[in-house]
Amino acid sequence: MQFHRPSPPSLHRPKTRTLLELLPCSRAFPHIVHGGGGLPSTFPKRGVHSQRSQPAIHPRRAIPSFDGDGMLHSIKISEGKATFCSRFVKTYKYTLEDKIGSQVILNVFSAFNGLPASLARCVVTLGLVITGQYDPKRGIGCANMSLALFSGKLFALAESDLPYVVKLLCDGDVITLGRHEHFANLIIIHDFRINAEGIKQPEVPILSLKQASFIHDFAVSENYVIFPDTQIVIKPIDVVKGKSLVGIDSEKVPRLGVLSRCAEDEREMWRVEVPGFNMVHTVNAWEEDGGDTIVVVAANVLGVENLLERMDLIHTLMERVEINVKNRTVTRRPVSGRNLDFGIINPGYFGKMNRYMYAPVGDPMPKMAGVVKIDLSLSTANLGDCTVATRLYGPYCYGGEPFFVPREPDNPTAEEDDGYLMAYVHNESTEESTFVVVDAKSLNLEIVAAVRLPQRVPYGFHGIFVRERDLENL
Ligand SMILES: [Fe+2]
Repeated sequence: MQFHRPSPPSLHRPKTRTLLELLPCSRAFPHIVHGGGGLPSTFPKRGVHSQRSQPAIHPRRAIPSFDGDGMLHSIKISEGKATFCSRFVKTYKYTLEDKIGSQVILNVFSAFNGLPASLARCVVTLGLVITGQYDPKRGIGCANMSLALFSGKLFALAESDLPYVVKLLCDGDVITLGRHEHFANLIIIHDFRINAEGIKQPEVPILSLKQASFIHDFAVSENYVIFPDTQIVIKPIDVVKGKSLVGIDSEKVPRLGVLSRCAEDEREMWRVEVPGFNMVHTVNAWEEDGGDTIVVVAANVLGVENLLERMDLIHTLMERVEINVKNRTVTRRPVSGRNLDFGIINPGYFGKMNRYMYAPVGDPMPKMAGVVKIDLSLSTANLGDCTVATRLYGPYCYGGEPFFVPREPDNPTAEEDDGYLMAYVHNESTEESTFVVVDAKSLNLEIVAAVRLPQRVPYGFHGIFVRERDLENL
């Protein structure tokens, strides 16, 4: 996920904070950056660590928050060598604007900022449509929000468009295969499942909302899907006024919507009000008490009115949320008072009760000064801060979202925290970027390997680790 980025005067929002360290980096071709020796001998062999970083700005222009082109940064680890590569996702938007040489497609978050400029931008876009230079049916998205691997495909995702299929090649390069049309209508108001073969199942339209919510993430337990209905809303009418499509409704009471994973109709969804709980990123969810309680671990954005333009002002509280299914009530408690978001777990525990969560520390958001290990077993009662280990990257050093990679992913008896945390870290003083590997089981989250990178990697989020056997099947 990308946040505040510099913009030319015509696009600049007065309140937008620009951060030098969030500037784009250039494309890096497959580049061997390490000769072996530093990576742990137990590190999963020939895996690929690929992170969708904050989108890099197209070289010929600058774009403000959330709207940059998706860029993938990958580290391929194979036979003692690490190969680094950075590539833009070749979306229709990227390809078209690269060909024309300027911004063509209206950006979801930043295109509408003032009536005169918005009108001018719409007129230009309409002219391109009429002259056949731009076909809106081919998409508007930047593929800049997240990565997902399922049914043998690696997808670059964004809320505003269909996924793009990308591939990691044997030499470490990253290529775009194309837009995945099979998931048509995969936008905002429909819930649906995708089976193990990657086939989209019948949709469950969610049409009862009085106001469209911006849903960035949701939680999944064994039997339920839990959707946030936050104060971050879609306001189409504001576009007419020249304002952003996405805004904040501070009068709205946030809710959680609970839906059976087998639901065939929206009538099976029920909602519960959760005042003050703006859930943007979830960490995990599971069921307790024979299914009578749903536990959700998620980040609650405090100061949500600053989320879109002054993320450095928000404080994100990591909370344990218990939903009583019978009474349809909610109880909450924070697991730490720190500014934590983008929590991760051992992926083998998704949807199941787990003990350990790892979360980067905002200092301020979205710059992450380090990572903490949280023992969620301490969160069942009000026992205070559940942090059991901390690793700060050092002065002037910041990273993005880390990843957890199990040391023995095929060993069912392996301990939950037996694995590695990985992150890109940038030193803002020396301007050096490093790929670091942390022992997740160690008492102080020791850094066991660090690989110097040939260029800066912007602070990024929602990446993925692709194992060798999955890589070969892409
Ligand atoms: Fe996100």
